[in-house]
Amino acid sequence: MGQILLDRNENQYGPAPTCYRALREANLLQMSMYSRDYLLARKSELSYRLSHQFGIPENRLLLSYGSEDMLKQTVHCYLKPGETMLSPRQSWWYYKSIAKEVGGKQVEYALHEKGHKFEYSIEEMLRLCDIHHPQLILIASPNNPTGNSIRKEDLIKLIEYCKSSVIVLDEAYFGFSNERRNDIKKLLESHGLLVILRTFSKYYALAGLRIGYACVGEDVTHLTTYSARYLGYNQLTEKIALAALDDEEYYHSITQKMCEDKESYYREFASLEGFTPFHSDANFILVRYPILQKQYLESELRRRNIVLKFLSDPGLEDCIRITVGTKEQNAFVISSMKEIVKLGVSIPSQPAFVKG
Ligand SMILES: Cc1ncc(COP(=O)(O)O)c(C=O)c1O
Repeated sequence: MGQILLDRNENQYGPAPTCYRALREANLLQMSMYSRDYLLARKSELSYRLSHQFGIPENRLLLSYGSEDMLKQTVHCYLKPGETMLSPRQSWWYYKSIAKEVGGKQVEYALHEKGHKFEYSIEEMLRLCDIHHPQLILIASPNNPTGNSIRKEDLIKLIEYCKSSVIVLDEAYFGFSNERRNDIKKLLESHGLLVILRTFSKYYALAGLRIGYACVGEDVTHLTTYSARYLGYNQLTEKIALAALDDEEYYHSITQKMCEDKESYYREFASLEGFTPFHSDANFILVRYPILQKQYLESELRRRNIVLKFLSDPGLEDCIRITVGTKEQNAFVISSMKEIVKLGVSIPSQPAFVKG
């Protein structure tokens, strides 16, 4: 096995065979010509298909260069200098810098550890809304790196309470749990200022292709206009994304394997002294480890060509985020971890290892 890169939440199984076929059969004319989809009275084949899938008008389905791009566009459209954005304290690193890009103020709410899971505290979020009247509220569900989702009833409460805020629901990791909501249309009807972000990067294993999208409420008109691309989108990218949508069976079978492997991770890490795995609805898990072993763990993993994400965020300095890989990779990570921990215990002279 070569280097095992389990540090950036990429889907290690790779895209569906339909995507490779689409690439092989690509029409080269698509590279030299602009799209003529407008002749069919649609923005693009992909946004047309997705909008039908979700039951919303095509003008409220906005394609972007990954969901990162749409998140940026949303914040740049709606957050003015001095205005407040509410976002999770434990979150994807980009959330920490995006408000600054526009001179906005960032207020963070915490996610709380409850048993072997993290949770959103709707009470805390509503309290902060009362104090700060945020222009924009950012929620990730599932959240990176904690892996938990927001409960549907809490999301509804927030929507009902914050009628004048733009609410961004980042669902980059949608699809990896057995519970799959399909209520985009209803959610958008309940809040005209809702922006739901999705991507082809994670579930569909197309991170390098850079394609994501937003489904937006009817009052998100500024963003709808701002994000319009009058000359169309990248046609090759679209073709491959459409091919991915054609092979739901492939992606479903991957998710099943990942769900099984997440269970193995929970079980195995729970049996290692000093380690606590947190349950996750995403394609990664968060694991707390005895912080005094950090150097030792890092170097032993490196020796075995395993790359994991050692976090440094406040409150999570003693946690690693592990992307759930293929069956083979996951088995190797688990056996390596067990071996590393055992070795550390049995070598009293090992200076970096202190049993936690
Ligand atoms: C929570 C979250 N949202 C959005 C993204 C951006 O993904 P992409 O731009 O590839 O769609 C990431 C990337 O890791 C992420 O962790």
